[in-house]
Amino acid sequence: MNPVPLPALIEPACALSLAEAGRLLREGRLVAFPTETVYGLGADATCDRAVAAIFEAKGRPSFNPLIVHVAEAADALALVEIDDRARLLMARFWPGPLTLVLPRRAGSPVSLLASAGLDTIAVRMPDHPVALDLIRAAGRPLAAPSANRSGAVSPTLALHVVDSLGARVALVLDGGPCRVGVESTVLDLSTATACLLRPGGIAAEEIEAVLGSPLARAAIDPHAPKSPGMLESHYAPGLPVRLNAATAEKDEALLGFGAIDGTLTLSAAGDLQEAAANLFAMLRLLDGGPHRAIAVAPIPEHGLGLAINDRLRRAAAPRGQP
Ligand code: TXA
Ligand code: MG
Repeated sequence: MNPVPLPALIEPACALSLAEAGRLLREGRLVAFPTETVYGLGADATCDRAVAAIFEAKGRPSFNPLIVHVAEAADALALVEIDDRARLLMARFWPGPLTLVLPRRAGSPVSLLASAGLDTIAVRMPDHPVALDLIRAAGRPLAAPSANRSGAVSPTLALHVVDSLGARVALVLDGGPCRVGVESTVLDLSTATACLLRPGGIAAEEIEAVLGSPLARAAIDPHAPKSPGMLESHYAPGLPVRLNAATAEKDEALLGFGAIDGTLTLSAAGDLQEAAANLFAMLRLLDGGPHRAIAVAPIPEHGLGLAINDRLRRAAAPRGQP
């Protein structure tokens, strides 16, 4: 099925390779790039299809919300709602390894898939000239998880990216070894008390000193792939969800796939990447409609179908449970 992978291209970051990388990103392709923490697997954060390609390349069985990278603090204004705490922390730590989770702004161009359907978006301005030049060359914010296959360690050299992802990435910009080597600190500012979701490159104490108050700490094990605290934050439709439906029952909306044509259809062609790209936007549309429930056509259990089904099973689970 898949074409034989060609060796991925590593290019030293220079004006020419950055322009090429910017063009690839605007076409919806994946470009790996250095940040001060780890290498990121970048895609156009405003394009559902490009973001779906990230999940495909990582081979992750579920959709995790991704960090959206900007080249200036001012660029975050169009994406998220920024309060005084965020402004203080950006002034003190940006560019740098601090990711802020903030409410999605109305009209935000960020893909719903990038934020896993949540009403919040994680934003950060990386402290690396190649990352910043690349975001500017692309002319749009970049969604980027660490540039490794799911379950592998995060890459801190261009060669690590190729070892892990091979030709799943169109281009790897080489900026040498990453200075920090651990991922950014993730801080949730969407709640009244700032909450540390992931320890990382900026110490909690430094953040507390700037905010003048202690942080809440999510009860998370950073080594567990999914934590209860994070699961609760997943977007759940208000309407009940019924899986593996061939047809809609009375007053149900049908989310179709492949040969099953629905009220909305994730992918008539049976293309899992297209389905992933449409998933959250279509769930939201159906949720806001006149029906009493959402029936969903069967989705194949392979490739991105694993992540789509994981998400759908959560949406269909009795409420109050992950
Ligand atoms: O240093 C880093 O942060 C690297 C470089 C490439 O920037 N990126 C990175 O991305 O580590 P990733 O996808 O591996 O980790 C993103 C983290 C996850 O723990 C995810 O759950 C959290 O950020 N996250 C993203 N969006 C979120 C949101 N809206 N709400 C809560 N957590 C969010
Ligand atoms: Mg990672």
